[in-house]
Amino acid sequence: MSARVHKAWSGRFAAATDPRVEAFTASLPVDRRLYPYDLEGSVAHCQMLAARRIIPRADAVRIVRALRQIRVEIDSGRFAWLPSDEDIHMAIERRLIEKIGPVGGKLHTARSRNDQVALDVRLYLRDQIDAIRQEMRALEKALASVARRHPKAIMPGYTHLQPAQPILFAHHLLAYIEMLERDRSRLEDCRERVNVLPLGAGALAGTTFPIDPKAVAKALGFRAVSQNSLDAVGSRDVLAEFLASAAIAGMHLSRLGEELVLWSSQEFGFVSLPDAFATGSSMMPQKKNPDVAELVRGKTGRLYGNLVALLTTLKGLPLAYNRDLQEDKAPLFDSVDTLRASLSVLEAMLPQLAVREDRMREAATAGFTLATDLADYLVGRGVPFRQAHEVVGKVVRDCLARNRTLQDLSIEDLRRFSPHFASDVRRWLSPEAAVARRRAPGGTAAPNVARRLRTLGL
Ligand code: ARG
Repeated sequence: MSARVHKAWSGRFAAATDPRVEAFTASLPVDRRLYPYDLEGSVAHCQMLAARRIIPRADAVRIVRALRQIRVEIDSGRFAWLPSDEDIHMAIERRLIEKIGPVGGKLHTARSRNDQVALDVRLYLRDQIDAIRQEMRALEKALASVARRHPKAIMPGYTHLQPAQPILFAHHLLAYIEMLERDRSRLEDCRERVNVLPLGAGALAGTTFPIDPKAVAKALGFRAVSQNSLDAVGSRDVLAEFLASAAIAGMHLSRLGEELVLWSSQEFGFVSLPDAFATGSSMMPQKKNPDVAELVRGKTGRLYGNLVALLTTLKGLPLAYNRDLQEDKAPLFDSVDTLRASLSVLEAMLPQLAVREDRMREAATAGFTLATDLADYLVGRGVPFRQAHEVVGKVVRDCLARNRTLQDLSIEDLRRFSPHFASDVRRWLSPEAAVARRRAPGGTAAPNVARRLRTLGL
């Protein structure tokens, strides 16, 4: 026995754990980051045990004091992690008993690592959701600041990546703000379901001790207490929900990344990236590459992968706890880190974009983007929309054949297609006028954009 490292569960075992098993089952390198939550949860648990007289108050005082010292040891990097520490819970309990002796062993009364880890992850995720929601809001502010700096910039709006109709650049940016608003509200919803206390479930069936989960929930800021012990230790759907929300948010960021890649290309030239946020080529001296935007796009693969990894781990697991569930943390932490990194780099980069309003304006009318407006003009003169569409289609075809634009056409040219064209059509055919006419709710007109920014408090 003396040569063996003592394990919390070693009582039943006659032989030491094979080192390969130790390495294979250990989760400490991954779950180490849960330590503040593990300690916080243990303090609340211990105080409840004392309040309910499950352990003597004097013991609880010593335990809580030692837990606080352990917090300082880990924070300051002085904590000695041992390879035999299976996970963060064991490492902390081992140190607790080292510090205060066998009385430290009272902390785990009425608790299992199964409900303990479920608690730690919920505390962690709740904090992360709050941080991510703030970072999303910061990114919205960055988008809004670019929009406000270029309130009149007009660009081509696309469908099928073909020029479609002129829009305000600000309106385009606000579309991403709307997506981020929904991403934030999805996380807010998810937070409600995360914010439930699983502690008290014990290993699976509940505990024989007269615990007070409500008091623990109150101390830790949970809004409710789990109503089924098997569910409390065996379910991870709230994590899956978070990973799904992170995957969706990543998809939105990826679309923004893709647009930054396109816009900063030679061919579009709508923006140029700040030097501090672009990278060069080791071979081609002229290159300035949009690697940040590309990586934001590329990292979405991990966010999707993490969701699928967890769902796959959960599928077909019998109730309640299975060690498979330990595999929940790597994808969870990776999605948190990946999403936060993407949000923060975009937030820093966007306000420094140089926006080429001239290039956008030039592109805004290329490709007959005012054709819909020309048809709408005829509709204003009483022509049924279908006929107007047909007439303008012919005008466009004629322009293409003669290599001209709609603006090149004289009023006489236009009247060959319809007698309803009059001299005011020339003023009608500007991208500024086209944008300003789209005042209907949600349309690209400037007052809509300004109002939406105000409503959102951005
Ligand atoms: N490290 C474990 C996990 O993350 C903690 C729970 C261990 N429970 C057990 N019965 N072995 O899931």
